[in-house]
Amino acid sequence: MTTSNPKTIAILGGTGKEGKGLAYRWALAGYTIIIGSRTTDKAISAAEEVIGLVGKKVHVKGVENTIAAREAEIVVLTVPYSFHREMLEFIRPEVQGKLVIDVTVPIVPPKVTKVQMPPEGSAAQQAQSILGENVKVVAAFQNISYENLLSGETVDCDVLVTGTDKEARTLVLDLVKDTGLFGLDAGPIENSVVVEGMTSILIGINKQFGVHASGIRITGISR
Ligand SMILES: NC(=O)c1ccc[n+]([C@@H]2O[C@H](COP(=O)([O-])OP(=O)(O)OC[C@H]3O[C@@H](n4cnc5c(N)ncnc54)[C@H](OP(=O)(O)O)[C@@H]3O)[C@@H](O)[C@H]2O)c1
Repeated sequence: MTTSNPKTIAILGGTGKEGKGLAYRWALAGYTIIIGSRTTDKAISAAEEVIGLVGKKVHVKGVENTIAAREAEIVVLTVPYSFHREMLEFIRPEVQGKLVIDVTVPIVPPKVTKVQMPPEGSAAQQAQSILGENVKVVAAFQNISYENLLSGETVDCDVLVTGTDKEARTLVLDLVKDTGLFGLDAGPIENSVVVEGMTSILIGINKQFGVHASGIRITGISR
């Protein structure tokens, strides 16, 4: 894994809800953000929107997905699960030797409150399998609603970080801290099944309580 420019983060599908929320938080923390999209104009508009949300001079630009992936050492994936495999195959050459943070939850409509994992075990394991051993895949933020990210308020939900490589998990824990959230090392990538599955449970809880952003908090630890 190369970390020559760890201050630049590409967010593929960053024109969407979750990606924009993360772009906002990291831009606020001083990172250079590259928003990726299938459409350059859409990426540029999203970048302008994030700059407006932050309300101060920040470095955010918008480009096509493969260009974004090429220009950053840290690449974040925030696309709907139905396009997960397609996107991974598309960007595979661009992310070799890099850190890929997968935020994807394998939500399969219409049963969005039911845990439905892919044959690989989880979306993160699917990403690792498609991208290959030369890419450090770390899964994070799957339980954090975009509304919480965009609110700019303290978020009452922890971030569980999983991935095969401990050094990569540690790097992502620093990135989590810089969003203003509390992250915990949740172990190897196989454990991502629990975190991704939790999102379906949270969607069900949201429905029961008529809210949009329920979350999880780990208790019994000092922060
Ligand atoms: N929303 C949340 O609160 C939340 C919370 C935790 C995790 N997540 C996970 O984060 C991911 C993104 O969620 P989201 O709510 O941000 O999704 P979204 O807003 O519906 O979509 C995100 C972006 O994905 C891109 N996209 C759509 N169709 C595509 C295709 N065929 N190929 C490639 N890219 C495509 C679009 O970008 P362009 O049109 O610009 O290419 C879109 O702006 C999902 O896996 C979700 O489970 C979401």
